[in-house]
Amino acid sequence: MLRLYFLISLMGLVKSDTDETCPSFTKLSFHSAVVGTGLNVRLMLYTKRNETCAQVINSTDLGNLNVTKKTTFIIHGFRPTGSPPVWMENLVKGLLNVQEMNVVVVDWNRGATTVIYTHAFNKTRKVALILKEFIDQMLAKGASLDNIYMVGVSLGAHISGFVGEMYNGQLGRITGLDPAGPLFNGRPPQDRLDAGDAQFVDVIHSDTDALGYKEPLGNIDFYPNGGLDQPGCPKTIFGGVSKYFKCDHQMSVRLYLASLIKNCAITAYPCDSYRDYRNGKCVSCGTPQMMSCPLLGYYADKWKDYLRDRDPPMMKAFVDTAENEPFCIYHYFVDIVSWNKNVRRGVITIKLKDKNGNITESKIDHEPAAFHKYHQVSLLARFNQDLDKVAAISLLFSTGSVIGPKYKLRVLRMKLRSLTHPERPQLCRYDLVLVENVETFFQPILCPKLQV
Ligand SMILES: *[C@@H]1O[C@H](CO)[C@@H](O)[C@H](O)[C@H]1NC(C)=O
Ligand SMILES: *[C@@H]1O[C@H](CO)[C@@H](O)[C@H](O)[C@H]1NC(C)=O
Ligand SMILES: *[C@@H]1O[C@H](CO)[C@@H](O)[C@H](O)[C@H]1NC(C)=O
Ligand SMILES: *[C@@H]1O[C@H](CO)[C@@H](O)[C@H](O)[C@H]1NC(C)=O
Ligand SMILES: *[C@@H]1O[C@H](CO)[C@@H](O)[C@H](O)[C@H]1NC(C)=O
Repeated sequence: MLRLYFLISLMGLVKSDTDETCPSFTKLSFHSAVVGTGLNVRLMLYTKRNETCAQVINSTDLGNLNVTKKTTFIIHGFRPTGSPPVWMENLVKGLLNVQEMNVVVVDWNRGATTVIYTHAFNKTRKVALILKEFIDQMLAKGASLDNIYMVGVSLGAHISGFVGEMYNGQLGRITGLDPAGPLFNGRPPQDRLDAGDAQFVDVIHSDTDALGYKEPLGNIDFYPNGGLDQPGCPKTIFGGVSKYFKCDHQMSVRLYLASLIKNCAITAYPCDSYRDYRNGKCVSCGTPQMMSCPLLGYYADKWKDYLRDRDPPMMKAFVDTAENEPFCIYHYFVDIVSWNKNVRRGVITIKLKDKNGNITESKIDHEPAAFHKYHQVSLLARFNQDLDKVAAISLLFSTGSVIGPKYKLRVLRMKLRSLTHPERPQLCRYDLVLVENVETFFQPILCPKLQV
């Protein structure tokens, strides 16, 4: 245990309790996590009036909380080391920037801080009851349930669900950010977050194979990168202990944060499975009513009315994201018609280059594509950069075999079309022979306008 303590100290996670004039999130030491903490819920109000300094409020004193405005509660999860969540400050600021509202940070660090997950789990109902008592007072002062929004992370997502259930699903909205899986998996709806807990429930699942919850829990459930193994996160413990355990889980929060900053909107594709999404089977949203496919994060509620009218009112949506902020990726279709006599199976790597020399690459390798003579194969390519004017393209074909003959893929026509920007001209190239594992560069031409 002592060794673990040192390790965590080295990672800079140990912070001692300090006194500050401006109230801040409870900081505890790893020692507290070892001995465990009793529950103490502090509500910290942030408004546009003072974004950096919180006001501690409670059910008898609502402070500067303006009940006629929207109120967003941020509820964190399990804190195995006692440190404050690193993302909290950005989330508060991000929310205050998108809309004039009250932001209430639900600080239950005393309670969530313990090395034993079940101890934190056991306090979730109690936290929900305290929030209920507070919201009841807000309602008594004239607030409306429609205006209440809860953003719950991990255990906090289920706490939000418990609160919502006590109001029979009349809360305005709940966003679950990677709702906790352990001890919640397989539980009935009343024991976890579910679509009936608010007027609209949206969920981002980013760590379904470890700390997160795999099954859909809301009206819309987003599974970035399939919901597991997020890009940029270490796949083994050698990538860093802390990162290894938290990185995938925290990606849901990072993606939500990115949605508050309007530099790129992460558009997701409604689909039954991640595999179908990767195979390009879910590129249209299939709804003439909607202007665009659903957006992950804060603006997911644009789909609220549409989703609530569905039977059942639930939908899964998938999207891949880039490793770094702002996380957007840009989708293209690569249509290939080949004329090899025998079926060729393999993966395609495509690179795009613009006049400035920017290069962006997409490896379409989730499963080998089968190229049948004269049949068009449409591959979904995902690029990190959005190159407006593509000057050159390279293709690389690989069967994955390291020994044996080098195969060729004889391409009759390849076509590149942007899904993100369907108005952009489609680019073509005819008659190419791709020798296995040899990168072939070429300049595309505009595809003929009229095509069958
Ligand atoms: C925010 O509140 C703190 C503490 O009351 C105060 O020192 C600071 O000046 C305030 N900032 C603004 C912009 O009002
Ligand atoms: C609520 O907050 C007020 C003002 O900070 C404080 O005086 C009061 O004791 C608090 N009440 C409870 C029940 O904590
Ligand atoms: C509360 O918010 C409403 C609506 O935004 C506004 O009209 C009112 O002036 C606010 N009250 C206070 C005390 O700031
Ligand atoms: C959690 O609560 C249950 C029932 O309330 C109890 O049986 C169990 O011992 C508690 N577990 C821990 C680790 O506190
Ligand atoms: C491409 O290159 C230019 C010049 O080097 C640069 O300004 C631009 O940001 C790059 N990226 C994209 C996506 O065009």
